[in-house]
Amino acid sequence: MSRPAASFDDWRALARRRLPGFLFGYVDGGSGDEQTLRDNVAAWQQLRLRQHVLRDVSDCRIATRLVGCDARLPLALAPVGLGGALRRRGEVQAALAAQAFGVPFTLCTPSICSMEEVRAATATPFWYQLYMMRDRGIVRELLQRAQAVQCPVLVFTVDLARVGQRRADVRHGMDGGGGRAAALRRVGSVLAHPRWAWDVALRGSPLVFGNLRPYLPKATTLADFRTWVDAQFDAGVTWQDIEWLRAQWPGPILLKGILEVDDARRAADIGVQGIVVSNHGGRQLDGAVATAAALPRITEALAGRGLTVLVDGGIRSGHDIIRARALGADGVMVGRPWVYANAAGGQAGVARWLGQMEHELASSLGLMGLADVARVGREHLAD
Ligand SMILES: Cc1cc2nc3c(=O)[nH]c(=O)nc-3n(C[C@H](O)[C@H](O)[C@H](O)COP(=O)(O)O)c2cc1C
Repeated sequence: MSRPAASFDDWRALARRRLPGFLFGYVDGGSGDEQTLRDNVAAWQQLRLRQHVLRDVSDCRIATRLVGCDARLPLALAPVGLGGALRRRGEVQAALAAQAFGVPFTLCTPSICSMEEVRAATATPFWYQLYMMRDRGIVRELLQRAQAVQCPVLVFTVDLARVGQRRADVRHGMDGGGGRAAALRRVGSVLAHPRWAWDVALRGSPLVFGNLRPYLPKATTLADFRTWVDAQFDAGVTWQDIEWLRAQWPGPILLKGILEVDDARRAADIGVQGIVVSNHGGRQLDGAVATAAALPRITEALAGRGLTVLVDGGIRSGHDIIRARALGADGVMVGRPWVYANAAGGQAGVARWLGQMEHELASSLGLMGLADVARVGREHLAD
């Protein structure tokens, strides 16, 4: 019997035990030397919070609205590809946990569960994340499907002009390489993790990409999928395509993957409703600046322009949410933590992890002498 998880590291350890090595490596790894992956976490932790005492904090307000959606705390679940391969019908389980708790869930394009499956299982519409494909007919169709299932927000990811080199995936053949030897090692790893094999491999169809099924019907291996991604993901995408996108999608758009002030200004000029300051969780440009370091300049540059600014990468605790708010973000997105909680405990795991984030946020806020998360500002960080 394992100890109950109480921190990110605990959830990660539980997920590691449960998942075959190639899947754990796929989630846990970053690109290149993983410098940015490490920096993301360290940059939040370097920020020190100021403690104030003897102020009435008996009633702490932490709820907010993010791009027009209610959020019980300033947090949304980030889009994570293959999320449904980590637990049976994993995206449905996470979406149900997010709905019950009251925070937005983002379904990515390369998900296992299709948007129609997640919508049928939930009452609250979720956010939908998209990449630009070369075949704009597919993009149009995906947007129409997302509208049909009433997704209120489009998260459009712009930091994947090319797929970053993730060495864990190369080692495990998750990039489609490695041939028979890598495939045999993956089978061995599945057999060594019988709980995952029974829950997901045998009963969960983890290799069918729900949203993309109509467009890549012949994908039976990772190599098939990777070949399709390389052919379809459009490295030629520019700001003009974002203007095109605006005409296709009537609702709010969040541009995800902004790290520089000039790009943030351009996003505002083009008329999107918000941005996510992100480096894809350290999975794309290795050596890129940590999001906590990029955030203050961007929020300063966008002050008064009415955009929602979210940030992700390395958020590991409730007090990291306070740090993000102190640097001007409206809220955070979180990737690996919900995925590990899902891998370890499914819907109940995600629900417990969300409860822990809430508890940490409210508790730290109170210990800072604050009764409302909306009041957190730069002055609440120590010099
Ligand atoms: C395994 C994995 C798959 C991801 N897939 C996607 C994706 O399909 N679309 C996307 O926009 N971001 C994707 N991301 C990036 C996340 O949305 C988010 O930016 C990142 O995980 C935040 O960093 P964190 O994991 O440190 O919280 C993925 C991240 C991980 C870890």
